[in-house]
Amino acid sequence: MKKTIVHILKDEPKEQELTVKGWVKSFRANRFIALNDGSTINNLQCVVDFENTDPSLLKRITVGAAIAVTGNLVASQGGGQAVEVDVKEVKILGDADPEEVKRTILQPKRHTLEKLREQAHLRVRTNTFGAVMRLRSQLSFAVHQYFQREGFYYVNTPIITGSDAEGAGEMFKVTALDIKNPPKDKDGNIDYKKDFFGKETNLTVSGQLEGETYALGLGQIYTFGPTFRAENSNTSRHLAEFWMIEPEVAFNDLDANMDLAEDFIKYVIQYVMDNGQDDLEFLENRLIQEDKAKPEAERAPMPLREKLKFVLENNFKRVSYTEAIDILKDSKPNKKKKFNYIIEEWGADLQSEHERFLVEKHFKCPVILFDYPANIKAFYMRLNEDGKTVRAMDILFPGIGEIVGGSQREERLEVLQEKMAALDIPEEELWWYLDTRRFGTCVHSGFGLGFERLVLFATGMTNIRDVIPYPRFPQNAEF
Ligand code: 4AD
Ligand code: MG
Repeated sequence: MKKTIVHILKDEPKEQELTVKGWVKSFRANRFIALNDGSTINNLQCVVDFENTDPSLLKRITVGAAIAVTGNLVASQGGGQAVEVDVKEVKILGDADPEEVKRTILQPKRHTLEKLREQAHLRVRTNTFGAVMRLRSQLSFAVHQYFQREGFYYVNTPIITGSDAEGAGEMFKVTALDIKNPPKDKDGNIDYKKDFFGKETNLTVSGQLEGETYALGLGQIYTFGPTFRAENSNTSRHLAEFWMIEPEVAFNDLDANMDLAEDFIKYVIQYVMDNGQDDLEFLENRLIQEDKAKPEAERAPMPLREKLKFVLENNFKRVSYTEAIDILKDSKPNKKKKFNYIIEEWGADLQSEHERFLVEKHFKCPVILFDYPANIKAFYMRLNEDGKTVRAMDILFPGIGEIVGGSQREERLEVLQEKMAALDIPEEELWWYLDTRRFGTCVHSGFGLGFERLVLFATGMTNIRDVIPYPRFPQNAEF
């Protein structure tokens, strides 16, 4: 197996010859190469004997170039690092013209995140994005590890689907018809019977409905896949393509669902605390530097790792929607009309300003809101005895707002049919879903966690476009 810098810095024995390949981060005094291969935020110092090296070769050791360094691994003379490579040979694998590099974000200086987004194909070479993407990878591993350890099965739900799970109608169409000249039916409407699937299809907004059918056979399942929403939300928390993790558990009620969500989130955060220290430390310091330029009120209330520790060590506060509305109605920003949407009465949908008030100002910890009004939630949620609320739960996080949306599902066939009829959801479309309520129906629950919102929280980044390799959002599908 090839040794990468993360291994070399950690546990390679000294006084051995090795070859390392990577990209030049900097080259100081014609002598010190800071080499990075992406395996860690830390660079490997490689010391060149410049007096005995061909000057034309030295010239090509430039920022961004790919090189192979061969030499002896030795204890470092300088203070910055424990080991360094005493270079015997440098090979240029791929040049990077310094004049061209100047025009890119590879140029070693502070660039704005907006600038980095324009060069998304290069930004992973920066410390910030390297750190974010390594942490993202660790988080996704931790997701699988958690569920596999707990005995869940991983299910791949379809990406192309005929149903709108959330009923919000914000879907991207999938078609193989010639859109300039589509076949029409007698009434002049597009004839989807002639389309590839013989019906209208779209990209999935959630794997939940298919996930439910599998939970009612395998017991405990989870999905982890891409989901698509054509909502025109140009915010720092919305993407048109994002990854969602959706566990679904037979025989779990809403309380068990909340316990699962809380335990799961704490596990994955603990995982990065244990395995991503170097990247977290870098991002923490980056945030501290960035905050210095901001007014006091806009600064992060605590350093990144302290914030993560806080989440691990405290119970999420469980609050009913009704209690939350009372708190919001009585709140200062509501009374002083500081909210954009003033909360007048029970039944109002909560905006992110309200969610953030509850989490950041009122409770000052993660909050699980439950038992929402039926008419602001999706059709599949279980109706409570009061006839007006459903067994929904949203988990709200500081700086993020909603990170999880879930519920206990309506397992009673007739109640579900009534609800679908009231919302004009045709039974013919969801006959297969209703079958789960016909044959051995049972209490069951699940939730969806927006993976990028989790990565946002864990990395302390503030814009969701910076925690996914190639963000898709309105008017943008570059790369
Ligand atoms: O609350 P949502 O819409 O719930 C569902 O889709 C359910 N079917 C989940 C379930 O019960 N199995 O979405 C779940 C989560 C949100 O809490 C949020 O974290 C994330 O998905 N999310 C988005 N993330 C990024 N960009 C968007 N446009 C998002 N929309 C939702
Ligand atoms: Mg939601």
